[in-house]
Amino acid sequence: MNRRSFLRDSLAASAISALPAIFPSLAHSSTTPKRILVLGGTVFLGPALVDTALIAGHTVTLFNRGITNPDLFPHLENLRGFRSPDANDQDLTALAHRHWDVVVDVWPHDPSMAASAAELLRGRAGHYLYVSSIAAYESNDFEKSGVDETAPLEPWAGDASEYARGKAESERRLAALCGEKLTIVRPGPIKGLRDDTPDLLAWLRRAQTGGRHIAPGDGNSPVELVDVKDVARFLVFAIDQSIYGTFNLTGRPMTFREFLGKCKAATHSDAEFVWIPKDFLDQHHLDPDSTLHMHGGNFPFWRPPGSLPGVYQVNSEKAFQAGWQVRQFEETAMDCLASYRSGYGDFSAWHDYLSPEKEKQVLDAWAHRSA
Ligand SMILES: NC(=O)c1ccc[n+]([C@@H]2O[C@H](COP(=O)([O-])OP(=O)(O)OC[C@H]3O[C@@H](n4cnc5c(N)ncnc54)[C@H](OP(=O)(O)O)[C@@H]3O)[C@@H](O)[C@H]2O)c1
Repeated sequence: MNRRSFLRDSLAASAISALPAIFPSLAHSSTTPKRILVLGGTVFLGPALVDTALIAGHTVTLFNRGITNPDLFPHLENLRGFRSPDANDQDLTALAHRHWDVVVDVWPHDPSMAASAAELLRGRAGHYLYVSSIAAYESNDFEKSGVDETAPLEPWAGDASEYARGKAESERRLAALCGEKLTIVRPGPIKGLRDDTPDLLAWLRRAQTGGRHIAPGDGNSPVELVDVKDVARFLVFAIDQSIYGTFNLTGRPMTFREFLGKCKAATHSDAEFVWIPKDFLDQHHLDPDSTLHMHGGNFPFWRPPGSLPGVYQVNSEKAFQAGWQVRQFEETAMDCLASYRSGYGDFSAWHDYLSPEKEKQVLDAWAHRSA
């Protein structure tokens, strides 16, 4: 067994062994087992979805190219093919002449790709689910808090990112194709097992290393993260209960002060986070979070007033009202650290968004500032 397969198997085993404790209702699901086709399935959300569906008693078929983690689910039916924005260039033949109860399209943001699969499969499955993103909302929706599922989406012909416009347009095209049998989920930042983006990790590592660290702002700015297993849980819940429609999945809101407190608690840390106002950080050329424009700021998840704070105040009440449950942050943090520690993803080139030298320099300047 090589290192890669060991890591894969340990992560899969830990995910599966944890599931019955986390999702007792799924482990003893009394709903009818369904045949689910997962388009994708082997990177991040896909494996969480597959594990959750299997634990709930469903049968899962995967469709992908067989390039990424191809041996992750050796006991499942693995169909191979190739999706492309160019209909003449893709190969969906493995899906032809087959029927499933449910299709979940997990990953694309290209509208042509999303639509061509739905055109082929909508008549051969009773329920079609698509994973979108809160990025599909028009970005100025986030000037206010509480964006719900009725807010306007990015126009296709706008100047938003290809990802944001693509998710919005995919939603529109799938709605036209699938009608009432469609479920769309719009997660916010997804964290947890197999996450290979270093934003939450940065805060957990700062807490873990102890000492003094900058806490940006006044502690009141909002943060929302959702655990990958909770997104998977909602998808399987929607499958089990035949829930249709569109749902934000952004977890429970917290303040930045609560978030850093949870990072400390999760890592048993005695680190001191020193709250420093934005003006002072600006004077020292430190940037807030740049999540909307991909990773880049020194303080992931920090959106100071005036910088679309609504991104982390999205309203997921509709999903909660439907019965969605989310786990404690500590568990997400543990999974995030476990994935990092076990070498999942490529963190070899990882460095913090803020160098320790620069952080110390600014902390010292703050401590010695004139009143
Ligand atoms: N991460 C976040 O914070 C966040 C937030 C909001 C929403 N989301 C959404 O959550 C979803 C996460 O997706 P994921 O990457 O974790 O999905 P996934 O289903 O776990 O992985 C992507 C799958 O697509 C397959 N694939 C890639 N290119 C393909 C192609 N050309 N033809 C056929 N199959 C192909 C890959 O396998 P092969 O490479 O073997 O083909 C892999 O199985 C996305 O929709 C994302 O937009 C993420």
